[in-house]
Amino acid sequence: MTYFEKIKNYQIKENPIIMGIETSCDETAVAIIKNGREILADEIISSATEHAKFGGVVPEIASRTHTTAILTATRNALKKANLSLDDIDAFAVTYGAGLLGALLVGVSFAKSLAFSTGKPLVPVSHIRGHIAASYIADKALEPPFITILASGGHTSIIAVKDYYDFEILGSTLDDAVGEAFDKVARVLGLSYPGGPNVERLANQGQNVIPLPKMLKNYNGGDFDFSYSGLKTAVINYVHNEESRGNQINKADVAKSFQCSAIDVLVEKALLATKKFGYDTICVCGGVGANGYLRSALQDSVKGKNIKLILPEKRYCTDNGAMIGAEGYLQYKKGNFADLDLNASAVVPLK
Ligand code: KG4
Ligand code: ZN
Repeated sequence: MTYFEKIKNYQIKENPIIMGIETSCDETAVAIIKNGREILADEIISSATEHAKFGGVVPEIASRTHTTAILTATRNALKKANLSLDDIDAFAVTYGAGLLGALLVGVSFAKSLAFSTGKPLVPVSHIRGHIAASYIADKALEPPFITILASGGHTSIIAVKDYYDFEILGSTLDDAVGEAFDKVARVLGLSYPGGPNVERLANQGQNVIPLPKMLKNYNGGDFDFSYSGLKTAVINYVHNEESRGNQINKADVAKSFQCSAIDVLVEKALLATKKFGYDTICVCGGVGANGYLRSALQDSVKGKNIKLILPEKRYCTDNGAMIGAEGYLQYKKGNFADLDLNASAVVPLK
């Protein structure tokens, strides 16, 4: 009997223990999740400092680091949860979107664990994983809700209608918000990862530099975004001031950029909530860790009948727990992959 013939007869468990494996970018992350929401272990080994020397993620370095870190992260997770491999009911792994070589490390590793234990292999979309982080943040959370997806590769307002049914209400037409943070960091001479460093600097500055305000409506799409104009405006401002020999207040640039980049996310999430009659807003993706975004959202829901779910910062940026949480949902549906599962650089949300 082949591996997959055996898996076809697998009985889905009521309260499964799932290992979530994430290697799509520069974090090697392995978590163990019980029943979709309870974290038993959550290990993250980051190669960010390796990339900092180059000003951004170097895919080959990311892949190489995953190959050495993945075993350590897995052993540590099992030890913390006080479990052995045989206690794991399924292996959920990010198969995309992300850096292909990096993804392949996690996918191959998860396949070997699934094959050797005879347990299901659950393919997980990285984006859906980010959204599922909110189920860990609020154990009682159930769809429907609006989520702001704000990461290094994506910026969208999404209506999560059901655990498996999503509608993208709007997205960026060009750069992602995290990408804009990273590029602005570079022009300000800040090291990788750009987002947290821009935030740190912005905390010392003021929103006094005139930057383009986001239009309310792009190409008729109320919930679409555009970040490339804002990014270019910051770059032009810095270069123009420098060529005039003027001293730049970098903290003010960081703060003004942060306000322009974030205010529109908050505004549109609230607009979507009102327009479509939702009462819950969640945040996901690395930019969700931004303190200004978090406090601006808290302020904007005050006095309104809107529940706000802000996952811990650790669960906004890439982690294995979110892959375990989404893996649980896919497991319940019996969405199991065979050993020919491939990694994919791009994965549709739906
Ligand atoms: O979700 P994530 O860890 O990886 C992707 O799926 O892209 O997001 C990474 C992005 C990077 O662009 C990073 O600069 C940004 O999230 N980021 C932040 C903060 N922390 C991470 N941006 C603004 N403020 C932060 N505190
Ligand atoms: Zn991510």
